[in-house]
Amino acid sequence: MKYDFDTVIDRTNNFAAKYDEIGLKFGREDLVPLWVADMDFRTAEPIIEAIRQRAEQGIFGYTSRPKSYFAAVSEWLSRRHGWSADPSLMLHSPGVVPSLSMMIQHFTEPGDKIIIQSPVYYPFFDVVRSHGRQLLENPLKNVNGRYEMDYDHLAELAAQGAKYLLLCSPHNPVGRVWHKDELVRLGQLCLRHGVTVIADEIHSDLVYSAHKHIPFASISEEFRQNTITCIAPSKTFNLAGLQASIVIFPNREYKARFDAILGNLDIRRNNCFSLVAVEAAYRQGEEWLEQVNAYIKDNFAYIGDFCRTHIPEIKPNEPEGTYLVWLDCRELGLNRTELHDFMLNEAKLALDDGFWFSEQADGYMRLNAACPRSILTKALTQLKQAIAARRDKD
Ligand SMILES: Cc1ncc(COP(=O)(O)O)c(C=O)c1O
Repeated sequence: MKYDFDTVIDRTNNFAAKYDEIGLKFGREDLVPLWVADMDFRTAEPIIEAIRQRAEQGIFGYTSRPKSYFAAVSEWLSRRHGWSADPSLMLHSPGVVPSLSMMIQHFTEPGDKIIIQSPVYYPFFDVVRSHGRQLLENPLKNVNGRYEMDYDHLAELAAQGAKYLLLCSPHNPVGRVWHKDELVRLGQLCLRHGVTVIADEIHSDLVYSAHKHIPFASISEEFRQNTITCIAPSKTFNLAGLQASIVIFPNREYKARFDAILGNLDIRRNNCFSLVAVEAAYRQGEEWLEQVNAYIKDNFAYIGDFCRTHIPEIKPNEPEGTYLVWLDCRELGLNRTELHDFMLNEAKLALDDGFWFSEQADGYMRLNAACPRSILTKALTQLKQAIAARRDKD
């Protein structure tokens, strides 16, 4: 079926964080919301139908996960990413961030060193610091607008006795889909220094053009044994509100340790809607995903063209993966507070500030492009007008 991503869906009664929490987060309500990473699109029809049928049953008691659930995940990984992941090494978790947090809390000791590569999704900082672990930051290198890993610095950090590295692949917010040789180099370095990799691959299905996501654990048996992978259908199919993700372990021992944590918290079960939605997504969501990815890719091109034509001061990247555009706004010549205030009070846009992702990312903003094009037109026109007003003042 042909999906329509152009129609703007009114999310007024959707109880959507992206809309309803604007005032709380930004201090004013009249902003175009391009911040929280969910989509303004309806999800795939087979997913909606599976939830509808489940709702019709009218009984919402404790769930029991059928074998077909993790089999569907495994088949998806194999079909889409060429990785035959063992379903018996998978566990359900309510979210990727909760998984990261639980792993840092229970698999490491206070003071242990954890590496992250910034700019990166800001909860990576929080899950390390909030448990009193030591954060080792390996900033990505910006090479003409394209970010690369700094292996020399990474080797220095790994040699300091780091226990884990949190890999973001594809990388939020800079939109890189890491190449095989980049991942191999990182993985070999981690193996050499005894650093276990926790691969957050939540954006893995959102890749564009010729770019191909390579599951880190699929690269070799040695890598697989040194990797815990987190995936979810939440970004892929816009299901974040269902709170379901999957963790894939290297062995039964690791799995049992995590399972015990889930057991203690009594959060092993899916809720009754995610139980059917996740399986429907991975079995029947592909057609929708192909179409939404094509639409988002066109959104990137639209943003690029608009900026080049009307606001050359703003330089968006063209993401290889994720639906998040990294805007280089440094030519506006504003410091972090001024840029924040400008986007908020003059352009009336709710964006993620660059410095949330790295202390070094002043002058950058992150824009969520998973919305109907008309919303982007409105947002970019407001930005254009705000910049024009600024030019007139100067
Ligand atoms: C890299 C990354 N990991 C995790 C998440 C959130 O995952 P969850 O909602 O499953 O905790 C996001 C959401 O934006 C993300 O970008």
